[in-house]
Amino acid sequence: MASTRFKNVIATQLAKLTGSDVKVIARVIDRPKLKGHGTFAIPLPRLLLSAPHAPKAKKGKLDQQGTTNIIEKRGDSKNMQDAKTLLLSRIQSEFDTSGLIRSVTPVGQFLNFSVDEREYTRQTIQDVVQAEEAKQQYLRQQSSQKQNGSASVSTKNTTLNAVNLGYGLDPTVGQDQVIAIDYSSPNIAKPFHGGHLRGTILGNFVSRLLKGFGYQVVGINYLGDWGKQYGLMAVGFDRYGDRTQLHQDPIKHLYDVYVKINRDITENPGLDKLANQYFKQMEDNDSTVLSLWQEFRTLSIEVYKVMYKRLGIEFDVYSGESESAKYVPQAYHLLRERGLLQELDDGAWVVDLTEHGLGICALRRADGTTLYLTRDVAACLQRVELFGFNRHLYMIGDDQNLHMKRLFKIMELAFANEAEAHDRLEAEKAGSSPLPHWSRALQHISFGKVQGMSTRKGNAVFLEDILDTAQSTMLEKMKENESKFEAIKESIQQQKQDESLELQERPDADKGVAQIADQLGISAVVIQDFQARSSKGYEFSWKRMTESTGNTGIYLQYAHARLCGIEDRSGTRLNTQANTDLLTEPEAFELANMISTYPEITRSTLQTLEPYMIVNYLFGLSHAISAANQVLQVKAVAESGQKDLAEARLLLLWAARVTLANGIRVLGLEPLERM
Ligand code: ARG
Repeated sequence: MASTRFKNVIATQLAKLTGSDVKVIARVIDRPKLKGHGTFAIPLPRLLLSAPHAPKAKKGKLDQQGTTNIIEKRGDSKNMQDAKTLLLSRIQSEFDTSGLIRSVTPVGQFLNFSVDEREYTRQTIQDVVQAEEAKQQYLRQQSSQKQNGSASVSTKNTTLNAVNLGYGLDPTVGQDQVIAIDYSSPNIAKPFHGGHLRGTILGNFVSRLLKGFGYQVVGINYLGDWGKQYGLMAVGFDRYGDRTQLHQDPIKHLYDVYVKINRDITENPGLDKLANQYFKQMEDNDSTVLSLWQEFRTLSIEVYKVMYKRLGIEFDVYSGESESAKYVPQAYHLLRERGLLQELDDGAWVVDLTEHGLGICALRRADGTTLYLTRDVAACLQRVELFGFNRHLYMIGDDQNLHMKRLFKIMELAFANEAEAHDRLEAEKAGSSPLPHWSRALQHISFGKVQGMSTRKGNAVFLEDILDTAQSTMLEKMKENESKFEAIKESIQQQKQDESLELQERPDADKGVAQIADQLGISAVVIQDFQARSSKGYEFSWKRMTESTGNTGIYLQYAHARLCGIEDRSGTRLNTQANTDLLTEPEAFELANMISTYPEITRSTLQTLEPYMIVNYLFGLSHAISAANQVLQVKAVAESGQKDLAEARLLLLWAARVTLANGIRVLGLEPLERM
């Protein structure tokens, strides 16, 4: 990548001047926070401290962030000051600024570097070209292998597709590592709520990102299809159930039953007992109750699948609490063997985690039935066996923080011996950085609540209604600009005609615009959700999320569609070898610099798994695109005969669009070509 190569040039020179390690320096090179401060920056104190003869601060170790303060506050600032002055004067006299790096300027606590802008732009664009060519080649190879019926496509890579490849991603990073992700996981006997939506889109994002870095991801939808709640649902169905309605609209019908039986239970606590009994029958394998359960489950999954498809989501596995029930005996056995399980007088079984501040956790009721936690322990064992994961992410709202802590502690304690043995083995392996034992690699990606999610009809919380409302809102907005709306329809008809020449199909413009509106609506919902740290909750707002200016999903889609339009109308062909030296405007360099940052952003996001980092970046990129569009006319210069300039500009804008599209895709959305 261009930025890596340029950073290395800086690091190599500084290493010579300071005597520090190139790699150490390369790691501390950052992007300046302010515009006009060059392309790269390095905090001076950290540079000084990386040197082998750096003056030592008085006490103990220096933490990485706090270095500036420590130097300044401690009594030895004089030594540091001297060292700094010396270093600065050496840098000023000896740092070579005649090559890729054009200037080095001390500003406050930083050294700022500017680059040879033409070369930086050229290399950045070529990075995009190469990554996209590699992607196309890979996809071609894969499809030809499929056509030849050769089954030899390595199973490791079959998960890669157009979403997981391309500029900004790097499938060599996570090879050979399996990551399980438990996400969405709605409850059949309860409504799909805002938390499920959040977990669903977050899980999809994390899964796309990890696949893009070559990890083998197993996406698991762990349905809430078992347990006492479910028993209550069945009792409710006995009273209020209707087969026809169930088949017509299972989720809504089950929800109606859920509401009614939950109302009843407040008046008649005896129902609680009935629910328990029903659940007991299920766990005892009673075939009549199980067949009703199976029907609810199958019908619900069918509906969910349609909804997930609409969101561009596919799970590798539909499992559920019912599936893990098979592993419950094994779980009990293990916990007993490890001395963790205690039997109470009334017959209940518990694990005592008070020592760890997590209380006493019931794992078996007195009547012998299992609990949510029991089934999660069992599910984890099952996943180890089925998928052999190295790491396991659970995307679940923060109301289950305690539950997750308990689960992880139980696994940690139960597998303490295995983990130790594993660590010893890993330590013997030289070279690669050691991976923790799976029982130490369980991670809860917790997120805050979404407040005030409602549809036009009211407060029902069906995801489908949310998506429908988003879609119709966007369709109305699109219709506001009548002439543009007609133009979109026309271009859909145009395109469909080309594609369906043989089929002689009547092009369906209405369907086309409905799809665009749907994707826009989904973009609005998703980007609003991804705008801040996931740990924070937020207030759902139709008004805010559907605005076309400001930081919304609509704005990102608009930036993309606009670039597509410019490319289409440019009267210029994409030439990946165009002479980018002709791009001399500051806006062009700004844009190229922005493009070159994308791989750094995806890399840091790989650490945090926080989509807001990519979202913020994409807003910045879109602003740079819009600034560039003001000055880098393509069509006009092409028409005035400046073909080379038109090609260079088009290539830059293409690289920007590819970057934007890749970012939009990683977030789980489909970039729109027109809107
Ligand atoms: N079904 C649960 C709920 O809706 C979420 C399940 C999350 N996954 C898990 N392994 N516990 O609250």
